[in-house]
Amino acid sequence: MAGARRAPALVCRPDVAGAPPPEQIHVQFGADAATQIAVSWTAPAPAARPRLRVGPAGDGSGREVLAQERVYTDALTGETVRTYHAPLGGLPPDTVFGYQVVHDGADPVTGTFRTGPRGRGSRFRFTSFGDHSIPAPAGRGLGPHTPNAGYIVDAVDALDPLFHLMNGDLCYANVSDAPVATWASYFTNITRSARHRPWMPAAGNHENEAGNGPHGHLSYQTRFELPGNGSVEFQGNWYAFTVGAIRVLSINNDDVCLQDGGFSTYRRDHVPGYRAYGYDPYLHGYSRGRQRAWLEAELAAAQRSGEIDWIVVCMHQVAMSSARLNGADLGIRQELMPLFDAYGVDLVVAGHEHHYERTFPVRGVLAGGLLTPAPRGSDPAEMDTRDGTVHMIIGGGGHSALRPAVDPGAPPEGVLIVGVGPGSPQRQRRSVITAEPAPWSAYRDLVTPFGFASFDVVPAEPGGTTSISVTYYGAAEGSRVYAPLDRFVLRKPVGARRQPRARQLVTG
Ligand SMILES: [Fe+2]
Ligand SMILES: [Fe+2]
Repeated sequence: MAGARRAPALVCRPDVAGAPPPEQIHVQFGADAATQIAVSWTAPAPAARPRLRVGPAGDGSGREVLAQERVYTDALTGETVRTYHAPLGGLPPDTVFGYQVVHDGADPVTGTFRTGPRGRGSRFRFTSFGDHSIPAPAGRGLGPHTPNAGYIVDAVDALDPLFHLMNGDLCYANVSDAPVATWASYFTNITRSARHRPWMPAAGNHENEAGNGPHGHLSYQTRFELPGNGSVEFQGNWYAFTVGAIRVLSINNDDVCLQDGGFSTYRRDHVPGYRAYGYDPYLHGYSRGRQRAWLEAELAAAQRSGEIDWIVVCMHQVAMSSARLNGADLGIRQELMPLFDAYGVDLVVAGHEHHYERTFPVRGVLAGGLLTPAPRGSDPAEMDTRDGTVHMIIGGGGHSALRPAVDPGAPPEGVLIVGVGPGSPQRQRRSVITAEPAPWSAYRDLVTPFGFASFDVVPAEPGGTTSISVTYYGAAEGSRVYAPLDRFVLRKPVGARRQPRARQLVTG
């Protein structure tokens, strides 16, 4: 399929030579993946008549769409970044298009995209990982960088997914002395895939760059053209889209997490006016309940819909973990898990912990006061998500310098952040951590440093079921070979009605 998706022969008319070329091109689904796609890019200087030519793949004709310019100025370096966005709507489902990104006076850059299928008509694949970073140092190399951050892009692209879910911590620009160059490296690295298929992000704690907008997300928000959430202030921080019979919800957990995860000593010490302007990277509660209200309304709508079989949440920090990196966060259990239970979320993909781990379906909590999720089922190979939500930590995208300080052979023990110590915008709050039983852990890999997961969606099987077959691919440090290491299946009846349900305490 990939071979059929190269650029079509659209007409090219170069104008004045020497103008800045389009760079860092990537595509994103709109709220309806079957009909809406946006193409986004940057330029190193103001572009003249930035626009998109788009037409059916292989066809020489095409319509032209003017792009919107959005800019931000980085608080650390003072660099102004110019981004361009061309949203498209009214497209036919499950169709391949070719496009050219055009500036007056510059060579056009080509790409392709495929719209999503409508309803339960077609099988498709998506992929996911978090915690990516960049393939080579930017600036003084303060931020994470590994060759695998490059190799994983090729490994994902080789599977030809319809789209990719990027579970936060995209490039760690907030810890770099060269944040704009770090973002440029990130998009330059992924564009060979993201120019042809959406890489749909969730904002992680390292997308919080103190001084860039009121909550540090201005770079992230400016660079992406994501489905709306009814807010200008929080545009892109949470959003949803429908692809086939799946509703995907992307959320930003910094709003609910207790951990002080966005703190950067480099930005504290080097962003001009950090103290005078009152910059504060601790974001707990920053949406003032807006995100949670949006999430509950979205989940309720998905639950009511007769056309949605699967609800998938893409987020960064986790509700459960047995690796001693950050730990899971009690704030997620308090704020989000009751909603996941009540509205029947099927699958959560996350990162933040830089290993691979997945749970049994969980619903309700165990006794003990830590809101420890209760496992429902004991077969790690095939699970019915009517029983509960399956969570996956896929944090080996590329920043895997950290190794969990846990004996891989020991039984899993949950690690939970239950609070933070004193701190301020100038001094990071330390996490208060406790241990707990981990009967929810179905499988974990604390040894393989890098990896991603693929999800093969079968919307309608003989016997009236629908399934998602999951494969985890892992690679050794410095290796381009991503080998299948874990497989499991989620399966349930097509059109299974979801009933609103109360939380349960499981005792014993
Ligand atoms: Fe990370
Ligand atoms: Fe993180």
